[in-house]
Formats: sequence, structure tokens, C-alpha cells
Amino acid sequence: MIRILLDCDTGIDDSVALLYLLARRDVDIVGIASTAGNVPVDVATANNLSWLQLCGRADIPVHVGSAAPLVAELMTAEDTHGPLGVGYADLPTATMSPSGTDAADAWIDASLAYPGELIGLVTGPLTSLATAIRRDPAVPGRLARLVVMGGAFHVHGNTTPTSEWNIAVDPEAGAEVFDAFSTAGVRPPIICPLDLTESVAMTPDHVVRLAAAAGSEPVECPDPADETGLRSVADNVVIRHLVDALRFYFEFHHAHDEGYIAHLHDPFAAMVALAPEIVETVPARVDVELDGRLTRGMTVADERAMTGEPNARIATATDVEAVFDDLIETIGAFARG
Ligand code: BDR
Ligand code: CA
Repeated sequence: MIRILLDCDTGIDDSVALLYLLARRDVDIVGIASTAGNVPVDVATANNLSWLQLCGRADIPVHVGSAAPLVAELMTAEDTHGPLGVGYADLPTATMSPSGTDAADAWIDASLAYPGELIGLVTGPLTSLATAIRRDPAVPGRLARLVVMGGAFHVHGNTTPTSEWNIAVDPEAGAEVFDAFSTAGVRPPIICPLDLTESVAMTPDHVVRLAAAAGSEPVECPDPADETGLRSVADNVVIRHLVDALRFYFEFHHAHDEGYIAHLHDPFAAMVALAPEIVETVPARVDVELDGRLTRGMTVADERAMTGEPNARIATATDVEAVFDDLIETIGAFARG
């Protein structure tokens, strides 16, 4: 079994990442850490619990993170993910409660339970992991692998001109986590930045294929150029909620002139966490700008070791259609039951 801890600010694409992990029968999600970001932490927690209940996985513990970043004021992204973080999906309210162990302690406990085996995946701000490392600096050394969706190196940011959302929400946490991986003998995290994740652009055709793979039809998409094309009347409960969430995300991207698409940043990072061979990477020393008036939250990659030894591997290339083939097949088969 592949043991993984997912740390997320759920979030539409976080939701797809969670569904992908749930769909993988070879994966043991040892816990889910909810972190404030796209939505406040209590909303992220409720979303995680709802998806788990919907998928019949009430056994997976959900751990609540801090309500605020380490230093910054919390900012949230209801414009991107909808008022409750899951677009137009009307998720059932879960009957389970979150774990009594907080998100930072969940990182510590899981790394102690599965030393050298645990994969960490962060698809939100790094607040909880940074807090865990403050409490127990040995956490990074116990991870088999850490994969982080975050940063923008050679492309425009999506939060400020120079910053990507997950880092921009809690720049201090990003800086502390990347710094903690500078220690010799600790495996450098794989960072999946906007440079690559924005190429993982879901189209209505992918959604139609997903619904078909689940045996759930129809999801209407008369013409990908028809911007109102994505209409879900899917009879499969997982697919219906998923498409209702995605429809909001497609509309957000369309409203921002990016086309009638949806960037699947977080599901892509989940796939990299399970199969790092699907990406090409470059080693780099990665730091987060904390002081710049215009550049706070910017991730800076030094690929020439001018400022220090590499503390990360930056994902630079992948086969995007192979990513969608896997996503569609895996979630489709899971939803089909
Ligand atoms: C990241 O920001 C969030 O809105 C998404 O869920 C993703 O994790 C992309 O910048
Ligand atoms: Ca996210």
C-alpha cells in the first residue's frame, strides 16, 4: 500500500485530487489535513468530510489546521471556487466529526507511524506543515517524498503578478518549509508550479469522457466552443457533484479569458505524488520572497546554485493527455463502483 497524507484547502481542484486518491485502490490515505486557503479552515474541513461520506470512506480521519496563516491575514478565494469552495456542488452535510488531533500533529504522527514510507502531498498553503516542522524539525527527514502544488517561477502569478495562490496565502510557511528541506540527507520536495500545472487544462470533452467512463450519461457538451456547453444531468452521484463543482471552475477560467477550461493543478500534483516518473524535474534552490512590496510571496528558483545547494526539484514537463487518460479512467472506474 502507498501511504499518503493529503493537506488541502478544499477547493474545487483539491476535491478532484481527493477523489483521485480515493479512487486509487493501492493508496492508503492515512489522513487529511484541512488548511485555510481557498476557503476558511472549517469550510475546507466540512468539504473533506462531505466527500469522504459521499464516497463511503468515513474511516479516513480529517484533521483541522490553523484558522490563519503563520503571519499574514487570511485571504480566501470564493470567486474561484464558489461560496463554499465546491462550486455549484450541493454536497451532503457529513455526519462525522473531525479528528481531535490537529493538522500539524497529524503530520508528525503520520511521519512517526510510517517513517521513510509516508508520502506528503500539499495542495494548499503550507501552514500546517510549517507548524508541524516547528513542533518537530525531524518531520522532513521521515518523509519518503513530499510533493507541493505551489509557486510560479517563469510565468505570471495567479494571485499577484509574481505570486501563486498557495504560497501567496502564507508566504512565511512556504519559506519555512522549503528552508527545512535544505538540510543534508533530506529528500528535496517536488514542486509542481503554475508553469506546469496551467498546462493541465481540462476541457468539456474530458468531462464528457469522465462521465462516460463512469457509465453515467449524459453530461451535455454540444460543442467545446459553446461556452455554456457543460451541463450536468449525470445520474451518478459522484460524477454529478464533481461536474457541478467543475462547472463553476470552468466559468471562472472563462471569465478570466483563459478559455472554457479548468486548470487541474491539485489532481496533477496528486498524480505526481504517486508516480513522480510522470514529470521531468530540475534541481533548484527555492526561496520565497517575504519582504518585497510588489513581490511578496514570489517563489525564486536558483538553478545554478548561486545562493545555496538545491532544496527542491521543480517539475517542468509532463505528458498532459496521459495525465487526463489516467484521471478519467481512475475516477471513472471508481464512480462506476
Ligand atoms: C492553487 O490555488 C488554489 O486555488 C488551487 O486549489 C490550487 O491549489 C493554484 O494556484
Ligand atoms: Ca488547493
